[in-house]
Amino acid sequence: MYDMDDIGDYDLLVVGSANADLVVGVERRPAAGETVLGTDLTVHPGGKGANQAVAAARLGARTALLARVGDDAHGRLLLDSQRAAGVDTGGVRVGGAPTGVALITVDPSGDNSIVVSPGANARLTPADIRAADELLGRARVVSLQLEIPLDTVAEVARTLPPGARLVLNPSPPAPLPADVLAVCDPLVVNEHEACFILGAEEAGATPEEWARALLALGPRSVVITLGAQGALVADGEAGGLDHVASPKVEAVDTTGAGDAFTAALAWRLGLGESLSQAAVYAVRVGAAAVTRKGAQEAFPTAEEAGSL
Ligand code: RIB
Repeated sequence: MYDMDDIGDYDLLVVGSANADLVVGVERRPAAGETVLGTDLTVHPGGKGANQAVAAARLGARTALLARVGDDAHGRLLLDSQRAAGVDTGGVRVGGAPTGVALITVDPSGDNSIVVSPGANARLTPADIRAADELLGRARVVSLQLEIPLDTVAEVARTLPPGARLVLNPSPPAPLPADVLAVCDPLVVNEHEACFILGAEEAGATPEEWARALLALGPRSVVITLGAQGALVADGEAGGLDHVASPKVEAVDTTGAGDAFTAALAWRLGLGESLSQAAVYAVRVGAAAVTRKGAQEAFPTAEEAGSL
């Protein structure tokens, strides 16, 4: 049996993916059947799980990552980035398949298109989660995304120690079991993810409608990220909707901004802030993250986020 005193070793445990991001800048992202020329290729540490862990650690959170990388150069790049940010990598398994890779094009407005080859991420199994029960038991907040198998995500949700809080960003979106949805506090989605989960017919037309419809599916709370417009917060217990505005910034590259937002939100919730308070902080972190190129390299320190 755990209580908050027992589970205070980590502010945040991220369970998720780690990818090498292979990035090309383009004037225009290609349509179906089209070929475009781009910039020289650059390789960066990425992956939604690894990004969240670095984002939280850079802000000052005591952070651990549970993930799987290959025994290869990309895996070492990812581990180096985690360790440089101060993330505890004792939960990162090595081997079984090549490290995951994300093929990313970024256009001049900072928008991107991403294709992920999961590689080792697809080999992070429910057995890996059961073997890490001690790590899970030491985190105030556990954050998940969907670049690892859904069975593995469900195992985390089903074995979450009492007192720990679960944050889930269902990206890329997939149908979620009711018992997983029921422990999300919050479910963090963008417009595409909200409409996927609700079904195009049922989704409604506004973020307020999406938030109410998502809450009706069972999560304890919902946060809808709205890019430059900030975020909409829906706390099932407190009731009501709260719109949180984002500071205005010049977007250079939006890659990983959602991961930085979710990491900041999860960390601040673990410190005891309300969902709205945590979202006010998280939109600043997300905004700062779009002002520089890349994902992990672009994430702000607490001081940089505070200066926006
Ligand atoms: O959310 C951004 C991330 O998505 C990238 O770093 C890429 O690896 C993909 O996982």
